[in-house]
Amino acid sequence: SSMEVLSLSPPLSLPVVLTQDELKKMAAYKAVEYVESGMVLGLGTGSTAKHAVDRIGELLRQGKLTNIIGIPTSKQTQEQAISLGIPLSDLDSHPTVDLAIDGADEVDPHLNLVKGRGGSLLREKMVEGACKKFVCIVDESKLVKHLGGSGLALPVEVVPFCWKFTAGKLRNLFKASGCAARLRNDGKGEAFVTDNGNYIVELYMEKEMGDLRAASDAVLRIAGVVEHGMFLDMATTVIVAGELGITIKNK
Ligand code: 5RP
Repeated sequence: SSMEVLSLSPPLSLPVVLTQDELKKMAAYKAVEYVESGMVLGLGTGSTAKHAVDRIGELLRQGKLTNIIGIPTSKQTQEQAISLGIPLSDLDSHPTVDLAIDGADEVDPHLNLVKGRGGSLLREKMVEGACKKFVCIVDESKLVKHLGGSGLALPVEVVPFCWKFTAGKLRNLFKASGCAARLRNDGKGEAFVTDNGNYIVELYMEKEMGDLRAASDAVLRIAGVVEHGMFLDMATTVIVAGELGITIKNK
């Protein structure tokens, strides 16, 4: 792996505090520099990826990019891309994707990710799993020592049928990590429903999960589970925007 640090230049004499959204935008714009005309592009979901999709739309409109085909990772991104006039397709027609750009909730030192707090983890995993390159874009608040380390949830997409039974299986699986499981709600007292008509069970760990690959395999063996938010060994590049500049980490 390699690491490149680009500092903000020219050096600023006064400290300028960038908002988290400005950092997200910096990372997103840097990632769009990887986009070339003619590419099939995986379009991510969330507030960071949104900046990348906006930028791609802008470059298309200016004629600086041509012949792009976007593969959206959610209905939300699909709508955004349509409003920007980005031509779209899907994995059925384009099973190989040149490059995907998407955010993450957590990034560990090995570039493993937690994704899906936006609820789009299944389509994201399908699209990003089909990519030759996956550039992940984050602000520095997303960096963790180990996945689950931010104290926020690890999302698991489950079928609605007897979701409590499935949540119990998940809790049991991670008993040694002090796991609590909760159904994501939509903020209006109802269950949050994904683009695929499923629910999201959120797992909170008191302790580290240990072997992530083993944890991933065990979760996927539970019959009611559709997919989980650990993206292991998938990102080829992570672009981190911080107050001191942009850091690019390559696999
Ligand atoms: C959606 C995701 C997002 O990429 C992740 O939640 C980060 O979101 P944001 O860029 O808004 O911080 O995985 O399912």
